[in-house]
Amino acid sequence: MKILFVCLGNICRSPLAHAVCEQQLQEKGLGSFIEVESAGVSSYHVGDQADSRMRKTAAGNGIRIDHRSRHFTHSDFSEYDLIFAMDRNNYSDMARMFRTETEREKVVMFRDFDPAGQGDVPDPYYGGPDGFQNVFDIVKRTCESIVVHLQKQL
Ligand code: 4NP
Repeated sequence: MKILFVCLGNICRSPLAHAVCEQQLQEKGLGSFIEVESAGVSSYHVGDQADSRMRKTAAGNGIRIDHRSRHFTHSDFSEYDLIFAMDRNNYSDMARMFRTETEREKVVMFRDFDPAGQGDVPDPYYGGPDGFQNVFDIVKRTCESIVVHLQKQL
């Protein structure tokens, strides 16, 4: 199974979800069954490392992010089984590219799996350090719930 996390720049939210989910899957011995990747609907930061503030917050919480930003493309709809949009704008940007019902069915809102509530993962890019920790907390608990969901599909 292959899953993809998608945000705007692929330097904050989706690379964090990618790293957190991968670590949780490895801890459960599921790392070889589920492949994880992330991408951005914009190409602003293609090739860049994750934002240093996001990497620092992740490291402070025991997570190492090692990813270079890549741009979401239409071929990702066939490459991945399940695609998580970090906010509704990311969802809309992908929705504009849907060509089939199968493609539509693959894309879900990330926080539909958040036990504390639905909605957007707030974009931390223009905010302060609290924003990054808030994103980390949302992503950690939501990935836990996603891993339980994925485990049931295997
Ligand atoms: P991300 O955050 O979508 O979580 O990676 C952002 C990164 C860059 C920009 C916006 C959001 N930007 O405008 O460059």
